Amino acid sequence: EKGGYKHFMLKEIHEQPRAIEDTLRGRVDLNNADVVAAEIGMTDEVAKNLGRVYFVACGTSAHAAMAGRYWVEQLARVPSTLEIGSEVRYRDPVFMPNDLVVAVSQSGETLDTLAAVKAAKAAGAHIISVANVVDSAIPRVSDGVLYTHAGPEIGVASTKCFTTQLAALLMLAVYLGRRRGTLKPEDARRVLDALWHVPAQMREVLAKAEDVKNIAKKHLRAHDMLFLGRGTQFPVALEGALKLKEISYIHAEGYAAGEMKHGPIALIDEDMPVVVVCPRDNQYEKTLSNMQEVKAREGQVIGICTENDADVKRLCTGNAGGTPRSGRGNWAADAPDAIEIPVAENEVLPLLTVVPLQLLAYYMADLKGTDVDQPRNLAKTVTVE
Ligand code: M6R
Repeated sequence: EKGGYKHFMLKEIHEQPRAIEDTLRGRVDLNNADVVAAEIGMTDEVAKNLGRVYFVACGTSAHAAMAGRYWVEQLARVPSTLEIGSEVRYRDPVFMPNDLVVAVSQSGETLDTLAAVKAAKAAGAHIISVANVVDSAIPRVSDGVLYTHAGPEIGVASTKCFTTQLAALLMLAVYLGRRRGTLKPEDARRVLDALWHVPAQMREVLAKAEDVKNIAKKHLRAHDMLFLGRGTQFPVALEGALKLKEISYIHAEGYAAGEMKHGPIALIDEDMPVVVVCPRDNQYEKTLSNMQEVKAREGQVIGICTENDADVKRLCTGNAGGTPRSGRGNWAADAPDAIEIPVAENEVLPLLTVVPLQLLAYYMADLKGTDVDQPRNLAKTVTVE
């Protein structure tokens, strides 16, 4: 049932192109530059008059929701916020009747998210859920639901559900943008066309699994790792760190790259691998300069970059792999610790950059010999507070 893969997680990582195709099918309408999704259950009038989009989710689903928040602000121009499920419930939150609450949950059963949704509903907000399990508790209390068609996810560490959530949320942002008149048809078409090409581009990234495994081997002795990204690569950095800590038990922190100078830079030394998610997007130059700062402090830079980016690759060479200055081996002659992704529109980059991070966590955990599919202390569905 693992389809020849050693673990469900690895199988599910490789299923992502298919899962995204299934999530997009029947919804992406390139001819009309629109998203077809009656199941959202919202009139155009409601979409036009939204005062706020309030995302609520936990864990990996909250990382997808953070990207969703950035997209909704950018494409639909609605003020948006993201709250962690467990923080909403006891805070006596303020909801308004023209709020759209978007609950993101793979299982549709996470108690903290469900409780937050019920509170929002009682306050009169319109609720949409993005869920993978059909007819689960959160969709049942929602006014509309956008299902991800990832298929059953068995690995406790969420992978294909994360990327299909991203696809669903980007479609939701386009849907809202078109109805609110903030997204011109040509821009909607540009984003949807890019989304349509993601599965093929993801297959190109998955073909680099062995390169990721080699990077994992080199950094296996790390005790701590930092993950940095800007804009929609910030949730990707958070997700890369969460994946690593969940299954490999290596301590990892995700940070907005711009926050580095406000604290975490103090941690950087030659024993600290720092993964920088730095594709050629609208914040590329700034993230590149963060990479230079890490390198200047002898941190070991692992880069996720757009193909043929010589500047990033140069910064990812010479890593000592946990044996700094030991004189063993000639690491400088090694291939750079960089994984390239294909050229793509800014909006879809997170769906591509997260894949090497999932693989990195997987290989680090597997090489350490942990129980990848059933990490200690974790449950797939958290139905307790
Ligand atoms: O089913 P949900 O998406 O609501 O679950 C939320 C989190 O419990 C979940 O994403 C968790 O963080 C995963 N183990 C991450 O890999």
